[in-house]
Amino acid sequence: MLKHEKIWLTVSSVMIIGFMIATGIQTFAFGMGPPSETERVDPQKVDEHEVFSEPGVYEVGENKYEVVMTLEIFSFNPGDIEIPAGSEVTFKMTSKDVTHGFQIAGTNVNAMVMPGYIQTITQTFDEPGEYLILCNEYCGSGHQLMATTITVV
Ligand code: CUA
Repeated sequence: MLKHEKIWLTVSSVMIIGFMIATGIQTFAFGMGPPSETERVDPQKVDEHEVFSEPGVYEVGENKYEVVMTLEIFSFNPGDIEIPAGSEVTFKMTSKDVTHGFQIAGTNVNAMVMPGYIQTITQTFDEPGEYLILCNEYCGSGHQLMATTITVV
């Protein structure tokens, strides 16, 4: 084997092992792995579901809120949410029809909401203001109209 071949073999082996270790640390130590054992919900029976039958904003602790939200063409329910500044908000969402997106402009919140699955995402809102919520998955002819707001007061 040529010297250069040995060098490149060593370099690429080290890189592969390095990437595997980095991925392993992210997944197991930081819990950043892909979701598994996700909660399911029958998309035909969302209205009868114990949680999703009553979408709304619920205060679950001091400065803690849970927003139970259903998405359908072309709306977010509830929409026009208002919460106090400094609140930690957990969004629990599902879709009643097709795949929608849930993006809060100006934050890192950006999730896919699929029928049959429960999507949970938590965000703390420290800065007062109006935040735009957008659907960023094409969901039909009214997709561009699918938006609402969160007002932090
Ligand atoms: Cu919902 Cu696009």
